[in-house]
Amino acid sequence: MAVFDRGAAGRGASWAAAGMLAAGIEAEPGEEALYALNRHSQALWPGFAAELQAASGIDVGLRQEGTIWAALTRDDAAQLRFHHDFQSKLGIHLEWLSGAEARRREPYLHPSIAAAVLSPDDHQVDNRLVVQALAVAFTRAGGELHENRAVTALDVTGGRVTGLRLDDAREPADLVVLAAGAWSPGLAGLPEAARPPVRPIKGQMLALAMDPVAPLLRHVMWSGRAYLVPRRDGRLIVGATTEERGFDARLTAGGMLALLEGAWRAVPGIAELEIVESWAGFRPGSRDDAPVLGPSGVDGLVLATGHHRNGILLTPVTAEAVSRSILTGRTDPAIRDFSLARFHNSSSPRPMPVLTETNRC
Ligand code: GLY
Repeated sequence: MAVFDRGAAGRGASWAAAGMLAAGIEAEPGEEALYALNRHSQALWPGFAAELQAASGIDVGLRQEGTIWAALTRDDAAQLRFHHDFQSKLGIHLEWLSGAEARRREPYLHPSIAAAVLSPDDHQVDNRLVVQALAVAFTRAGGELHENRAVTALDVTGGRVTGLRLDDAREPADLVVLAAGAWSPGLAGLPEAARPPVRPIKGQMLALAMDPVAPLLRHVMWSGRAYLVPRRDGRLIVGATTEERGFDARLTAGGMLALLEGAWRAVPGIAELEIVESWAGFRPGSRDDAPVLGPSGVDGLVLATGHHRNGILLTPVTAEAVSRSILTGRTDPAIRDFSLARFHNSSSPRPMPVLTETNRC
């Protein structure tokens, strides 16, 4: 099996992400099916992280302190109450906290915080360690990892995949998984009907340096204006803007201001911290914000894209369900509602092809 990446492995949205495993606190009205998939994948994470560590020797920094959503004003608290009631009805375990109770858990929260919700099952993982561990585990298992080798086109003949085009070569293949994030629909040679309706949704982010021995936060923190994700090494990730600007990766004063102000309103002590990094990434957003997984309608072409805000959260279920579907030739029930067919009026794409020795992913 071979993986081709146009840059270093995992340096797209997977690298830019914050690593929040927030199935509960991010659940939105109208996204109940996506919530079920997110919850399924969230439950797989502890086993996936342990397996990844065993296979790679890299601890991927799974932290299980939970997430706090802090309401800074009375208006924020009214909005938080709405989310709390909706999410509780879905069966999500949440604890409503007074401002004082929230500050007992996180003493550096703003003293005038109105209220908060603790979501004890929403955790985080260090996404950059995850992609490094995946690369090591894949190559140790005998996979061929081709970094800095862009796939320039897909070869499709008579409705089935026959290979990949690279700048300098052609790779024969009878099975291809298209997992190119926001770049997935731009692959040359992709038949129009198999093109996933995915676009880049820009997120600007930054990292601050806390003292790892005396960090300002232990929980992942949401304020409605920004999120803060404390890493074990002292980095405090602050994210993220949500912008429709194509592949424009520029950082803007307005974007950075919004993040820093949102974070500072929740945790004023961040004003003293050094800014150690800033970056922008591109979430692959689909038309309904849910991923596009499974058959494409082209024999031998399988889709694993469109994960939008949930790429790291959905990694285990994507890996497990897509590979199981390929190996069995039947779309896994976990991803049946998330195929490309939901965007078409016509009949469903053909079933999954079965993996053979010569297949290439
Ligand atoms: N999941 C966080 C984000 O998309 O910004």
